[in-house]
Amino acid sequence: EKGGYKHFMLKEIMDQPNAMRNCLRGRIYQPAEAPDRWEIKLGGLEKAKEGALNPQSPLERMANACRFIFAACGTSWHSGLIGKYAFEKLAGVRAEVEYASEFRYRKPLICDSDCLIAISQSGETADTLEAIKMAKEHKALTIGVVNVVGSSIARETDCGMYLHAGPEIGVASTKAFTCQVIALLLMALRLGKQRGALSEEMLNMYCAALNAVPDSIEKWMSSLTEQTQVISKNLRLATNALFSGMGVHFPVALEGALKLKEISYIHAEGFPASEIRHGGITLIRNFVPVICIAMRSDPAYEQIKQMVRDFRHKGAALLVLTDDGNTDFAGVAHFTLCCPATKLEMQPLISCIPLQLLSYHIADMRGCSIDQPRNLAKSVTVE
Ligand code: F6R
Repeated sequence: EKGGYKHFMLKEIMDQPNAMRNCLRGRIYQPAEAPDRWEIKLGGLEKAKEGALNPQSPLERMANACRFIFAACGTSWHSGLIGKYAFEKLAGVRAEVEYASEFRYRKPLICDSDCLIAISQSGETADTLEAIKMAKEHKALTIGVVNVVGSSIARETDCGMYLHAGPEIGVASTKAFTCQVIALLLMALRLGKQRGALSEEMLNMYCAALNAVPDSIEKWMSSLTEQTQVISKNLRLATNALFSGMGVHFPVALEGALKLKEISYIHAEGFPASEIRHGGITLIRNFVPVICIAMRSDPAYEQIKQMVRDFRHKGAALLVLTDDGNTDFAGVAHFTLCCPATKLEMQPLISCIPLQLLSYHIADMRGCSIDQPRNLAKSVTVE
């Protein structure tokens, strides 16, 4: 049931600290004999399934892989984009992200040293399932990152990780998204250690940061709810909205735009901040909401700051999402939302939450059918 919340989506947004803890539980820990060290254990990747063509341990194959391919659709594709950053930066390995529905209809070059990671909440998305079958034909290792236990994708892949996010009923994906990002971060950290891309010290630092994320979101939730309600009241009548973010926050901008359009029916687009100069900038004029993610840890923070000033100059209704204690946007942004800061690679787990809440409140104020938006299915099993 909805646990006292008006919609499943809101319940699922608020449930995220718990869902994240469940996703981390038993996988990241400080061993009793060495409590200043962190370990990552991913049981579902240790052994090949009974009867598998290749009996080698999946983790070993992942440690020696030349390339990872993330295949997914919709919100799950966005978590793949965040995963790509983590795999490149933390594990030092090539990673590509594919819309499963595009991948399966061309002739992609796949070899047996590739690993395909299929990301899916439902485990039933037909295109993602088909991408797995193609990868298997080329003898690549297939790994599922799935929420629904026993689903088709969980069964079809060679190995995998369940999200343990609990049932997601609202059609718009929220807690499954953040848990997918956690699962990919855990894999990247585990591989970073195994491939020698991360020192023991760095690994400990990243693990401690990841483990602290659910608590910092939980502490922040109630003040965030109030703030996003006030901002939603101001933005609820918009017909278009733009979301901008750079680097690891570009996928967060895409996800913010997708959430808004799917439940509030406001047209929304996500841009990589600088790319907006190559066309999209024509859309910015008086009162068009522009939501900018601008964390001081973003490598291009100075450029982002400049862009934000430029958006304001062009008349945008500006909401800046930044890190706690940052006053750089006072007098520039109409609204500022401050997030608890963490390591850059983990920041999307936190920065996506205000965007989920913003979409939710805007859609609620517009009287939309939030848990079942028009035309949209929870799992797309048609091809
Ligand atoms: C958006 C949303 C969809 C799904 C997509 C993939 O909020 O829920 O975009 O992410 O249909 O579904 P799964 O993850 O079940 O494969």
